[in-house]
Formats: sequence, C-alpha cells, structure tokens
Amino acid sequence: MNHFEYKDGELFCEEVPVSQIASEVGTPFYLYSKATLTRHFQAFDSGFEDIDHITCFAVKSCSNIAVLSLFGNLGGGADIVSGGELFRALKAGMDPKQIIYSGVGKTEEELRYGMESGILLFNVESEQELHRLNKVAGDMGMKAPVAFRVNPDVDPKTHAYISTGLAKNKFGIPINEALDLYKQAAEMENIEVKGVSCHIGSQLTLISPFVETLRKLKNFVGRLTDNGINIDYIDIGGGVGITYDDEEPPHPQEYAKAIKEELTDLKITLILEPGRVIVGNAGIMVTEVQYTKTNRGGEKEKNFVVVDAGMNDLTRPSLYGAYHTIQPVKENNGASQVVDIVGPICETTDFLAKNRDFPEVKQGDLLAVMSAGAYGFTMASTYNSRPRGAEVMVSGNDFEVIRARETRESLIQGESVPGFLEN
Ligand code: LLP
Repeated sequence: MNHFEYKDGELFCEEVPVSQIASEVGTPFYLYSKATLTRHFQAFDSGFEDIDHITCFAVKSCSNIAVLSLFGNLGGGADIVSGGELFRALKAGMDPKQIIYSGVGKTEEELRYGMESGILLFNVESEQELHRLNKVAGDMGMKAPVAFRVNPDVDPKTHAYISTGLAKNKFGIPINEALDLYKQAAEMENIEVKGVSCHIGSQLTLISPFVETLRKLKNFVGRLTDNGINIDYIDIGGGVGITYDDEEPPHPQEYAKAIKEELTDLKITLILEPGRVIVGNAGIMVTEVQYTKTNRGGEKEKNFVVVDAGMNDLTRPSLYGAYHTIQPVKENNGASQVVDIVGPICETTDFLAKNRDFPEVKQGDLLAVMSAGAYGFTMASTYNSRPRGAEVMVSGNDFEVIRARETRESLIQGESVPGFLEN
C-alpha cells in the first residue's frame, strides 16, 4: 500500500497533487511520501518487534539525509558501504551504535573514519581487510568490532547483476573457509569478534533462499561455539523484493515469521539491512513529455515518447532491463498505442520503457515513473552534462524540496583550466 493515488483523475502524493509540485519545482524530480516511508519502515521493523533486532536501512537505496533522519527517528540504524554514506548517516543524526559498515573495498581512511565515529560493526569481507582494520584500530589504541561477511553459496533466484551470495560473486568469505579467519581474528589484539553477516542478493521474491542461508549461518555459528568463539549478532542482509510489475514478493511480516522460526534457539541480536522494500514504492520520478514522434522505415513504424528524464536520472531500465510502471499524472483514458518512452541522452540504451501500451500523450503532459524510491536518485549521474533533478518529500498537504535541483554551475564545480593551457 502506498500514498500515490488518483483523486478525481489527478495523481496525488498524500494530499498534494503531483502537478502542483511539478509547477513549483520543475521536472524531472523525485518525490517521496513521508507516510509511505514511515508505513513501510514500520511494516518491516514491527515483524521483528518481539526479538532483539536492529533494522539498519541500506543507505545506498535512498541516501537523502531527510529520509535517513526519518528512519533514525523511527528507531532505525544504517547499513553503509562508504565513507560518504557514513557521513550522510551521521549528518542525519543517526546513532553510530546502530551503524554497520559493509563492502568489499573499504580504504584505510574509511576504516579510520568508521572507528572514529564509533560504529557498531564492520562487516569484514577478506583476510587482508581484517589485517588492515587490526592495524588501523591498533594505531588508534582501540579495538575494532567485527562481523565477517560470509558467502553461503545460495542462489537468490534474482537478476544475475544483483546476486551476491553465490560462490562466483566477489562478496564475502566462503563459508567453508571462514572458521580459520574467525580463529585468527579471535587472537588479534585490536579486533573484537562480534558477529556473522551475509547478503545474498537484492529483489528476492522467494523466502526459501533466506531460510537456506539462515540454516547455513546457524550451522556455522554452532561451529564457532564449538571452537570457543561466541558472537552477539547475526546479520542476514537486505533483499526482500517489491512489486514493480506483476512480481509477488513475500509480505515483510511473512518474511519476518520465517526468519524468526529459524532463530528460536539462538541468543543473538538480529541485524537486517533492508533498502528497496522500504523505499522502493515510497517514491516516484516525475518527468514531462517533450516530444512524440514516429520513426518509419524498416519493417514496422515505431512510436516514441521523448521525456525530460533519461538513463542518467533512472538507470535501472537500461542497466538491468528493469520494468517500471509509468502512468500519466492526469488520468488518461485515450486510445493506447505501443511506444518506447525515452530520454534525451545520446545512447540507444536511454529508455525508461520499451514497447509499452500507453495512452496517447502530448507535449507538456506529466508522467509518473513508479517504484523509483530505491536506486533512483542514488544511481543518477550527470551524464550528458544534465544537472540532477530535485528531491521532494510530501507530508500530508505539505511538501518540501529536500535536495535542490543541481544547476549548470554545479556541473563544473571543482573544474578549472590549468595555467599551461592558457596562452
Ligand atoms: N546490504 C548489502 C550489503 C547490500 O549490498 C544491499 C544491496 C542491501 C543490503 C540492500 O538490499 P535491498 O534490501 O535493497 O534489496 N542497484 C540495484 C540493486 C543493487 C543492490 C546492491 N546491494 C537495483 O537497482 O536493482
């Protein structure tokens, strides 16, 4: 359930007509509903309310500090993968004791920043990272809290590009080799072994891969205990999917029930790293039709709707062939035709939808690209020197720009022509 609905033929976000926001902030822009963000966070988090847990929102999915601050106020923590994400989470006032740091390539500086900030856990992904962290913590006269991200070799049955828990993926430490590393870490002066973590992939529409993973983790934790290593945290990553088109992912409560059933005999704190399931359908991207055209030639004619948002603004269709529902902001029951909805970027992969049955639209019409709250703005770029669009949050009948549209000046910020080029 989300708060993007038609009222009298007009798309609203909560109590505000989307067209009103468009006329005030221009297009394209990303629009988030505070009520939906809150509802989705609570729907997920409440599934685990009867056990010790921390819901660490995956910052990479939607990193605006307004969104992070909202989740922080709802009791959430953060799953970060860079110093930049740590900076954002702290700026948003999130509690460092609820921040966990994942990722295969943390630099020395990033490890130091994490230590200085007093985060809850580093999810270490290699032996070399463990040694680097031990050294950094030693130099600072501290002990680094560590969980190892293990790779359980479970098929998440999702898109190959967003599968992370197979042996062939770059992530984590093979579960069969991890015990040796735990033993090594337990002997290290500046490391405190606290947990085990994993993340098998994103946009999962089945519960069974999570259950299979947890069983492997439990088995592994048993082996740790047998070796005198006791841990406090199990982190099962993110990954419950959402409906973009006709997918039928498990309800978060159903997912929570299955997870809890596996954990009944363990005394640990559960860490979860959800991103998409919370923000995906809590945000849309709004764009304006610039032109319509039909290209004839070849076997068939092809209809195009050219809009002012492209693959730089929403990368998912061109990168993963992902489907996003697109609908006119003013309900349109006109005759439909098959169109490609494309952006202004000079690349053939620049499309938001392909061969879509779509009502006839005209220049100036606004379109809503649904399910754009996750991996929308965060994956946007300025390719073709296009300033990135504004981000806006609605609450009831109020709305505020939470990130200003970039300007042409901001595109060249930090650039300069070196003296040796001047004549
Ligand atoms: N934890 C870790 C360590 C992750 O790598 C990810 C996502 C998550 C949590 C959050 O997963 P979620 O709950 O959102 O499924 N750009 C792609 C998705 C990439 C996901 C990368 N990792 C997309 O647009 O589909």
